[in-house]
Amino acid sequence: MWRLYFTPTTVDEAVDLLRRYAPHARIIAGGTDLLLELERGQRPDVDVLIDITRIPELDTITLDDEGWIHLGPGVTHNQVVASRLLREKAFPLVRASWEVGAPALRNRATVAGNIITASPANDTITPLMALGAQVTLRSAQGVRTVPLAQFYLGVRQTVMRADEMLVDIAFPALGPRQRGTFRKLGLRKAQAIAVVNVAAVLTWADDGETIADAAITLGAVAPTIVHATEAEAFLRGQRLTPEVIAEAARLAVRSARPIDDIRGSAAYRRRMVEVFTRRVLQALAQGDVSHEVPAHPPLLWGREEPHPHPLPVSASHPPDEIVTRINGRVYVFRDAEGKTLLQLLRDHALLTGTKEGCAEGECGACTVHLDGAAVLSCLVPAARAHGADIVTVEGLVRAEHLHPVQQTFVDEAAVQCGYCTPGFVMAAAKLIEEHPQPDRETIAYGLSGNLCRCTGYYKIFDAVEKAAAQYAAQHEEA
Ligand SMILES: Cc1cc2nc3c(=O)[nH]c(=O)nc-3n(C[C@H](O)[C@H](O)[C@H](O)COP(=O)(O)OP(=O)(O)OC[C@H]3O[C@@H](n4cnc5c(N)ncnc54)[C@H](O)[C@@H]3O)c2cc1C
Ligand code: FES
Ligand code: FES
Repeated sequence: MWRLYFTPTTVDEAVDLLRRYAPHARIIAGGTDLLLELERGQRPDVDVLIDITRIPELDTITLDDEGWIHLGPGVTHNQVVASRLLREKAFPLVRASWEVGAPALRNRATVAGNIITASPANDTITPLMALGAQVTLRSAQGVRTVPLAQFYLGVRQTVMRADEMLVDIAFPALGPRQRGTFRKLGLRKAQAIAVVNVAAVLTWADDGETIADAAITLGAVAPTIVHATEAEAFLRGQRLTPEVIAEAARLAVRSARPIDDIRGSAAYRRRMVEVFTRRVLQALAQGDVSHEVPAHPPLLWGREEPHPHPLPVSASHPPDEIVTRINGRVYVFRDAEGKTLLQLLRDHALLTGTKEGCAEGECGACTVHLDGAAVLSCLVPAARAHGADIVTVEGLVRAEHLHPVQQTFVDEAAVQCGYCTPGFVMAAAKLIEEHPQPDRETIAYGLSGNLCRCTGYYKIFDAVEKAAAQYAAQHEEA
């Protein structure tokens, strides 16, 4: 898989490592795309990884004096979902990040990684294009800023050079006369790649009725995200009547050049472009769209505010050994190059409670807590454990007492074969920290990345409800 794993602590170091090792080196952020590409042999030339998650301040979301929003390259989808600033001034991006994978994936996966992977089905590119975003790239040769509209060359192809690091994502904050949102059609509610996605940002004229400007972007219907230019032009100067919305949706189809693939035929996609453009415009015509994402969405990062930060590490060279804390005990591992955290836990630490279901981020069986947040250990490089704090299902037991989630899974018989159970328990343990009284919908959102082929989920949901009540009572007493 990879030979060298660097953990730089400054952007200068990361850029210098790229200079030294490109084209054989790649930046790794969440690793949720890159690890699978390496595993599948899609990047045979890459054997050096540069982990930027230990560089301080890369995970900031800010608004500058000119009214532009800036996202650092470490900003995860869950940070976007949780950001009040983005909810108010960049809602289409929040809605899209909310639709990426499931919570434990969103705790690692970054917006920058989503942009750079450059799949036309990636969810955040569509709203970022509609928002008029640009990216700043840095290399040893200098810095350049590229509008996202000029960033893509084709399917998974960008203008970014192998020695460049993305250091900033920027776009104008939505103003008081602007509103936007996003819709995605997937084959299921979570962990689903888009069959079609649509984003729109509308600007109203001073009369509050007429559309002064429109940006509509379409995903998964062409080699890159495209603007629905005819629909955009048609909307300018119009009022959002049902007839105008229907015509704009019909015109949007003309910008789509979809193909048939495993997720849908070209004809179906064209039809869905019309349906989803209509839905987006109808939602915007009705007014405020912020309710489309729950006010307190499950993040599975517990109660720590504002969100868990990786612990600092001092070594930027490849560590000969991984020194890490698992369930409160310090471990030292050697010979773990090219392994995932899941393999490290099971094969080296012999903590076999954590299960491998798919090894591709799809099932949630491998969920553990990394630096306070639920993550999928099959998508975390083992070297990321260096200097980290990890909790596995074995570590939830305190003074020989099962954690409330473990106990209620037993009491409610929420287990059949039990293979999925450690993953559910780890996700649910974080969920009830954040949501002392989760309703069924919140539990469903929180556990949407965990699959069970046996139980039918009802007993699992019952167990989580009861565990939340017990956990809240325990913490009130304390
Ligand atoms: C189970 C599963 C479900 C998924 N569901 C969705 C979904 O619903 N919607 C969706 O859009 N995506 C989805 N994805 C894809 C993936 O999670 C996202 O694309 C994610 O945002 C990638 O971010 P990352 O931080 O993990 O990227 P990484 O894997 O770390 O990196 C991705 C690419 O970007 C490069 N890179 C990252 N940061 C930088 C930087 N700062 N400078 C230069 N290069 C950089 C890497 O070298 C690599 O080539 C899913 C993936 C999985 C495994
Ligand atoms: S999600 Fe990691 S093993 Fe399935
Ligand atoms: S209990 Fe068997 S997979 Fe969930």
